[in-house]
Amino acid sequence: MEDKTQYIALARKYRPQKFEDLLGQDALVQTLTNAIQNNRLHHAYILTGIRGVGKTTTARLIARAINCIGEDGKGGPTIHPCGVCENCQAIAADRHIDVIELDAASKTSVDDMREILDGIRYKPTNARYKVYIIDEVHMLSKSAFNALLKTLEEPPAHVKFIFATTEIRKVPVTILSRCQRFDLERLSIETLMTLFHKVLTAEKITADEEALRLVARAADGSARDGLSMLDQAIVLGDGSISTTTVKSMLGLTDRQQTFDLYEAILSGDVSAALQHIQQQYTSGATPSVILQDLIDITHLLAKVKIVPDFINDPTVSETDRLNCQKLNAAPIGILSKIWQMLIKGLSEITYAPVQIDALEMIVMRIAYSAALPSPADLLKELKKKINNPDA
Ligand SMILES: Nc1ncnc2c1ncn2[C@@H]1O[C@H](COP(=O)(O)OP(=O)(O)OP(=O)(O)O)[C@@H](O)[C@H]1O
Ligand SMILES: [Mg+2]
Ligand SMILES: [Zn+2]
Repeated sequence: MEDKTQYIALARKYRPQKFEDLLGQDALVQTLTNAIQNNRLHHAYILTGIRGVGKTTTARLIARAINCIGEDGKGGPTIHPCGVCENCQAIAADRHIDVIELDAASKTSVDDMREILDGIRYKPTNARYKVYIIDEVHMLSKSAFNALLKTLEEPPAHVKFIFATTEIRKVPVTILSRCQRFDLERLSIETLMTLFHKVLTAEKITADEEALRLVARAADGSARDGLSMLDQAIVLGDGSISTTTVKSMLGLTDRQQTFDLYEAILSGDVSAALQHIQQQYTSGATPSVILQDLIDITHLLAKVKIVPDFINDPTVSETDRLNCQKLNAAPIGILSKIWQMLIKGLSEITYAPVQIDALEMIVMRIAYSAALPSPADLLKELKKKINNPDA
C-alpha cells in the first residue's frame, strides 16, 4: 500500500531487479553465468565490497536465479530469472518461505544462529533451494561462527548460503575457505554517471552533466551514496539539478577558482592566492575540501605530464582539460614538492583550532617555495656560472 505522495528514496526504488541492471560488476556476473550454465553452483558465496555497490542486491538476485522456474513453471536455474514465476515474485517481495534473510548485526548470538540452522535439515517448501542470506556476516559472535562452521562443512544439497560483508578481514578464515568469494568493485565515475542518467530519465528530472560528475566523484564508488546525494539535490533543486546546487550541497569548491588558486600558488603570487581562498571560503567551500582539491589537481597535473593522453580520458572534465593545458609548464619536481607539502597540510588542518587559518598558512608556505627554482635548476645555474664565470 504505497502512499503516492510519499517519496521513496531513489536507491530503494531502483534496486536492480535483473543482473543486466547491476552495473559495474561484470566479472561477478560472468562467473555466475558460467556456474549456472555448467551446473556448478557453489554451496556458499561470500560477497564483499564497500558500502552500496550491490552486495545485498546480488544476494537476492542469486536467490532468484537459482530458484526461478520460468513462466511455464518448467525452467531451471538461469542468469535471467523471469521475474514472473511464483518464486521470483515472492523473493522480490521479500516473502519467500525458503529464502531466509537475516542481518547478522542484530542476530549475533549463538542461540540465534542455532535457531536458524535448525531449519536447515528440512527440505525447501516451494523453492529448489533453501537460501540463507546473512548480511553483515562479520558481526557474528565467535560462537555463532563456530556453529555456522559445522553446517558449512557439510550442508545438505538443498541449501545455499550467501554472505555479505563490508569487512572481509573480520570474517574467520575457516569460514572464508569454505566459500566462493566475490569482490564487488567500486563503480567508476563513468558507470555512476550511466546509473544517474538512467534513474533521472525515469524520474523525468533534468540535470547538468557537470553536476552529475561532481556527485559521481563525491560518491567515491558507491551507488547508494551517489543516489542518496541525488535525492538531496532533487529536493534542493526543485525538479532539476544544477551545478551550483550540488556544489553548495556538498560544500564543494568552484573548480575554476581552485585552478586560479593553483596558478597563483605556482607563480608565487601569495596575495592573489589568499584572495582566492577567501572567495571560496565565503561561498561555502570548507578548508579541508579546498585542500583536497589542490591535492587532486596536483595529481592530475603530474599524471598528464607523465601520460599526456590522459587528458582525453572521459573522466577528465572540460574545465580540467583546459586548465591542465594552461598549467602544463609546471615541472614534475615542483609538483611533487607541492604534493608533499599539501599532504602534510592535511594532518595540520585537522589539528588546527581554526581550519581556514591553517589553510592560509599552508598555501603561503607552498607559494613561497614553489616560486623558488627547483634544486635541479639551481644546479644548472651553478654549473653555468662555474663554466662561464664572466657571464
Ligand atoms: N552495481 C549497482 N548497480 C546499480 N545500482 C546499484 C548497484 N549497487 C548498488 N546499487 C544501488 O544502491 C542500492 C543499495 O545497494 P545494496 O543494498 O545492494 O548495497 P550493499 O553493497 O549491500 O551496501 P551495504 O554494504 O551498505 O549493505 C540499491 O538499491 C541500488 O539502488
Ligand atoms: Mg547490504
Ligand atoms: Zn522466475
